[in-house]
Amino acid sequence: MYQEIKITRSSNSRIDTLDFNHIPFGKVFTDHMFVMDYRDGEWVNPEIVPFGMIPTHPGNLAWHYGQAIFEGMKATLSKAGRPLLFRPELHSVRFNDSARRMCMPEVPEAIFIDALKKLIGLDVAWIPPQEGSALYIRPMMYATDESIGVRQSDTYKFIIMLLPVGPYYDHAVKLKADEFYVRAVQGGVGEAKTAGNYAASLLPAKMARAEGYDQVMWLDAIHHKFVQEVGTMNIFFVIGDDVVTPATDGAILKGITRSSVIQVLSDKGYNVVERPVNIDELLLAYQNGDLKEVFGTGTAAVVSPVCLIGYKDQKIELDTDKFVIAPMIKDLINKVRIQEMEDKFNWLVTVE
Ligand code: COI
Repeated sequence: MYQEIKITRSSNSRIDTLDFNHIPFGKVFTDHMFVMDYRDGEWVNPEIVPFGMIPTHPGNLAWHYGQAIFEGMKATLSKAGRPLLFRPELHSVRFNDSARRMCMPEVPEAIFIDALKKLIGLDVAWIPPQEGSALYIRPMMYATDESIGVRQSDTYKFIIMLLPVGPYYDHAVKLKADEFYVRAVQGGVGEAKTAGNYAASLLPAKMARAEGYDQVMWLDAIHHKFVQEVGTMNIFFVIGDDVVTPATDGAILKGITRSSVIQVLSDKGYNVVERPVNIDELLLAYQNGDLKEVFGTGTAAVVSPVCLIGYKDQKIELDTDKFVIAPMIKDLINKVRIQEMEDKFNWLVTVE
């Protein structure tokens, strides 16, 4: 049976060391974290403790065989100074989808949301107030059985940590459409937010960076033609009057910002189409002048305009200053998050 969360407050807050106007992404952690264990088929010992190290056995199954999943979510401040969570139920559903695929136990939504609310309530002072900044929330789960040999773990740890963040990209993004390496294939784990997907992306991303790109735009593993996503975000193309994004097919992460963007643009009357997108079609649309905008969407990236896509010896170069839809949708999401625009679709959940 799920127990009450035991809270041990930090006696030594680090908040005075944070410069809210210059927050590097992913480097600053708040004062507390939520920790809970899974054993004998149930979640036990839910606790909020001062943020710190977790001693781990070297034979921990997650380190060897990769049972590790996570989420990325954001909290902002309401006009009245209350924390607002962006679509937490959807993140809970996606976390549990990832858990099932990786043969891990689900975390009941009520526990997930209760833990989030209590933790954020405690570290509310860490939420940056500026538009475009937020408290990034990183729930994660990993296997903790101590043994060598490929099998599913019987024990797990669920942790939530919080990080005040500024924008993930502070510039227009340059992407390399990789013609050799692949991220995921249908039947694989591409739809799960699991650590290995990101590990697999590191070498191709490093090679892309050496060529002056920021990230890889993944193509499908069979034809090496159909666009999947970027290592850090989903992707949209404005082709003629249509806003097109690759249809999720089991190998693409079902982004929550992606679904929010589809919802808003459809509501505004745009023709949003989810379908396979061939790289040759993009090159042709670019040559014909029909490719108007390219932008990525993600919790961290929010909406990030793309100024360059390289594919073999060809280049798609875009003047992001001429983009209309990407800045509009970015502004809308950022303003809804801080209640400067109406939350028409009830995305926000207030932490009382
Ligand atoms: C997110 O957008 O939350 C992610 O997990 C992607 C990562 C680049 C931070």
